Amino acid sequence: MTPPTSDSHAVPTVIDETKPSVARVYDCFLGGKDHYEVDREVFQQIDAVVPQMKDLARSGREWLIRATRFLARSAGMDQFLDLGAGLPSADNTHQIAQRENLDARVVYVDNDPVVAAHGRALLEENDQTHLVLADLTRPDDVFNHPTVKAAFELDRPLALMQCSTIHHVSDDENPQQIMDRYIELLPSGSYVAFIHFHDPEDGGKGTELARFVEDIFARGAMGSGYFRTRRQIEGFLRGLELVEPGLVRLNDWWPGGPRSTPLTVADNVALAAVARKP
Ligand SMILES: C[S@@+](CC[C@H](N)C(=O)[O-])C[C@H]1O[C@@H](n2cnc3c(N)ncnc32)[C@H](O)[C@@H]1O
Repeated sequence: MTPPTSDSHAVPTVIDETKPSVARVYDCFLGGKDHYEVDREVFQQIDAVVPQMKDLARSGREWLIRATRFLARSAGMDQFLDLGAGLPSADNTHQIAQRENLDARVVYVDNDPVVAAHGRALLEENDQTHLVLADLTRPDDVFNHPTVKAAFELDRPLALMQCSTIHHVSDDENPQQIMDRYIELLPSGSYVAFIHFHDPEDGGKGTELARFVEDIFARGAMGSGYFRTRRQIEGFLRGLELVEPGLVRLNDWWPGGPRSTPLTVADNVALAAVARKP
């Protein structure tokens, strides 16, 4: 098991139970159990008004499973850098990838000490799976991390999982520059799996929902969640070739079967894509 990094990137090592955290609030949405009262308060404010956001969180995990399976099986990826790992869920990237390819290597990155405390045992099940405490807004630091360098052959294609992470990065932190740098660092033939909160700009329910959730996140003092336009989200993937069906709603990306329930307004406030670096 890799010890927590004492690192230069100012990643907190102490759990602050007085402030909500993105990883723990997300765990509430997924019906997990690793959260505190402050996290549940944020969750309940959203859930009371838009219970469908729970379905969106679950759709995100289901999308991640489908995308990882595609990457390991059809795209032949055997190195996975999973940024913003989150708390362990029923099926995590390494379990899916290693089910397809026993030799697949996975490095999870997160900056939440709860993910380290509660997740390390589950997310580091074997020698090919590691968890690194680092700041994903610093691509060069992530790629130069000793665990990342030891686990991967960085001159061979890898799968970069950037799922529901960049929408927690404010414009002030320059998410475009961060994504450009990650894409620059990836060897040709690599893939990016991407989920981002979306403002559908429909002048109605979708945009209202986006602003409502943004506002609650902002008041929760945990760092915000930003709902960006399709154009902005497409920009984060510039230089890459989108895999069919492109940048779409989670449930429209190679669904596991025909839909049995109608899409809700919450389905319109996130977009996902898998894209390849030529
Ligand atoms: C909404 S969760 C998504 C979890 C997982 N990727 C998924 O799609 O199910 C976002 C995760 O990103 C992590 N995160 C947010 N900002 C980060 C940063 N600057 N550096 C590292 N991790 C970060 C949070 O701690 C949280 O675990």
